[in-house]
Amino acid sequence: MLNTINLKKKIGKFKKIISVSGDKSISIRWVLFSSLANGISKSKNLLLSEDVIAAIEAIRKLGIKVKITKNICEIHGMGIYGYRYKKNITINAKNSGTLGRLILGLLINSPYPIKLIGDKSLSRRDFKRVSDPLSKFGAKFELRNNKNLPLTLYGSQNLKNINYIENKGSAQCKSAVIFAGMRADGITKIKSKFSRNHTEILCNHLKLPIKIQKKKNYDLIEVKKVNKIKKLNYNIPADISSAAFFIVLTILTENSELLIKNVNINPSRIGIISILKKMGAKIFFKNRKIYKGEKIANIKIKSPKFLKAINCPKKLNSGAIDEFLVIFLVAAKAKGVSYFKNLAELNQKESPRLDWGEKILNKMGVKTLRTNDSIKIFGNPKLKINKKIIIKNYLKDHRVFMTSVIAALSFGGTWEIHNKESIKTSFPNFLNIINFLKNGK
Ligand code: S3P
Repeated sequence: MLNTINLKKKIGKFKKIISVSGDKSISIRWVLFSSLANGISKSKNLLLSEDVIAAIEAIRKLGIKVKITKNICEIHGMGIYGYRYKKNITINAKNSGTLGRLILGLLINSPYPIKLIGDKSLSRRDFKRVSDPLSKFGAKFELRNNKNLPLTLYGSQNLKNINYIENKGSAQCKSAVIFAGMRADGITKIKSKFSRNHTEILCNHLKLPIKIQKKKNYDLIEVKKVNKIKKLNYNIPADISSAAFFIVLTILTENSELLIKNVNINPSRIGIISILKKMGAKIFFKNRKIYKGEKIANIKIKSPKFLKAINCPKKLNSGAIDEFLVIFLVAAKAKGVSYFKNLAELNQKESPRLDWGEKILNKMGVKTLRTNDSIKIFGNPKLKINKKIIIKNYLKDHRVFMTSVIAALSFGGTWEIHNKESIKTSFPNFLNIINFLKNGK
């Protein structure tokens, strides 16, 4: 079957330099900010995956012209109030929670009802977490089962600032409220548990009226009404969440070395690095620089001789939230029992990922102990797989697919992994890089 990949052999040792594709969170935010800007914004290395293309299709529906040629994307923004709203617009966020949630903040003043739909995976995810705060601004929502997509947004022209406590550590909810706050009268105040802060960094870079105070356990964010957004040219750095698969492959492959170029190492995103270093991984940041407020570096990885189990501090969870599936593979090879806790949010992702992490490990013969929101992984430094493993029916979660490929190449066994097309969501180039590491081509 064309859409299934069969793997039968561990990868041999490698020493290579690679580039992975553009950061998904920054790509989607660049598209959205540029759609509100005055003038033509250009980006290089925009991630052209299905999630980002869904964002481009969404702003096109709102009357914004977008041109893509080779590696350059051009967005012709018409100002913060420049969307051309029509009756009966349906926005399809496809698989993307980030697009689906953030865009609601931008559409909150729509003069006509707007329908938001998504694919099977997105339609099981919680949208009440974002419609609740956005309703307080004065908009109204109708959601399926009071919680899910499809939803209809009834915007308001008379938006009032809100005070909002974001206590899930969700950058998507925080960002949706920031976007809505940019359209509301008065000062919107957000008390937010730490989460990725690309939206705030872009607001600061664009000199928008946003104030951020870092407190010990949370951020205090204040947003005022915005009248104008400058156009924004941007060279999108590589995505640490895509780099993660190759960081782990290097760690799990003896005598190997890898350099991954120009990766975004925003401190709110590098939980995986802290976790893996605590487990004994050798990871170094080289050529550090700052680009438009974002930290960037080349990441060098050398496979370690020895990996040890971790009792993962929960304060590292938010910065590693998209990487736990591959981190679990490292725990499978580490000496001792690793413990990951307070991970209820993992089951709220594109698939129930805590459940899938456990399923993949168990199929590999790794012992686990679960509660609702935690997992203990009994590691084995000599782990080898000698049986057939089939991975299917996982809601086409791109990270389940890529994690399974890394497991197959690291531990051996015969793997039949379905729904290869899932990589188009975030990392269309994934298998090409795998082939480059396998064959040098
Ligand atoms: C994202 C935020 C995170 C993350 C997702 C991307 C973003 O989700 O898991 O892949 O770009 O804001 P939550 O905000 O729901 O935690």
